[in-house]
Amino acid sequence: MEKIARKVSREILTKKEPLSALFFIVLADYDTMINVASAIFVLLTTSYRYAFAFTIQSTAHPTKRTRLFEQQANIKDILGPVSPATVQSYNLPPSELTEGWSARIVTRIAKSLDESTDIELIPKNEKDHYVDKFSIEIPLLINEGQTGLGIELVEVQGGRDDGLGVVIVNSVIPGGNADRALKNANDQCETLMYGDSIVAADLLLSIRDNKGDRTDVTSVKTECLGYTAMVDQLVELLSNTNEHDKIDSATIILTLKRLRRRPKINIRLEYPPSQNLPPETIALQPGDNLRLAMLQRGIKLNDPLAQRYDGKPTGSGNCGSGGLCRTCSVSVLRGGELLSPPKANEKKIMEGSPRWRLACKSWVGYGMQEGEVVIQVNPRQW
Ligand code: FES
Repeated sequence: MEKIARKVSREILTKKEPLSALFFIVLADYDTMINVASAIFVLLTTSYRYAFAFTIQSTAHPTKRTRLFEQQANIKDILGPVSPATVQSYNLPPSELTEGWSARIVTRIAKSLDESTDIELIPKNEKDHYVDKFSIEIPLLINEGQTGLGIELVEVQGGRDDGLGVVIVNSVIPGGNADRALKNANDQCETLMYGDSIVAADLLLSIRDNKGDRTDVTSVKTECLGYTAMVDQLVELLSNTNEHDKIDSATIILTLKRLRRRPKINIRLEYPPSQNLPPETIALQPGDNLRLAMLQRGIKLNDPLAQRYDGKPTGSGNCGSGGLCRTCSVSVLRGGELLSPPKANEKKIMEGSPRWRLACKSWVGYGMQEGEVVIQVNPRQW
């Protein structure tokens, strides 16, 4: 297997492509946003296939960073429950999976001045692709002598002295542990696919001996390792199955990263006849806020006739996404299911106008669905 991988990577690496990688990285203090520094890292290589973007992000305020992560969790709530079946429809063709990965090194400095460094697999094209992360379980038939995973890996970026690289799943070996586990998995489970990259592995050993019943867990991180380093890590992990003779069962949990294309939501905007503007379509991504997206594109939402809920007089401006002024109202003619459902407050404000939504309280791509939403802008003027 290693021979095959080496051959494939050598073929990739020997193709000369005179392209250098140029990355702009902004280093920002998230608390005050005052001490903004910028850095440009230029990595000159003979082939972009093994170019890495090295990003250093520093923060003096780790508590703020924690809050940012909480905001990301909120975006998941906004997107609603995502079915694996929906997400599978955004899988990429194999050719893009081989070429689509890049890597980033992130160094974080905690309040204690302790430094930690992570290396992350990221999409080369972050505009159109995103990385999905999930886990699969593979029970190992160790009592029948099948201690291997039964997964064929291939190195698509590498050749570096530090052992870093990008290794993806090429196939599963028929009859092996992975093959059997995937055949037994139900439809709702994620499965292993060509192009996935193993970023971590946990070995769970159920042991019954004179100390009683227990589960031993051993973990390894394999994100951004080249072929040799990744195989070494996995083989060492699996060798733990030889250290006990009273193993009841053994399961390996693989954490995988998968490249997917970003779903697209087209918003068709229709303007009141009095504005004499042709309809237009804007393309958004899941999690985009409708009001913000429209304002960023220069679309005026302010309805001077809106009846406000904050006690201010009509025509006194907008409430800045507070959900109180109704100046951002739109009428949804089609595709309302692609917007996050209205919460109780919005429902109360919009009583009597079931098609109307507050753009500031509408996020697109609910359930990671893509499609078209047709809306009338400034509905009071129709
Ligand atoms: S901006 Fe005030 S309700 Fe949306």
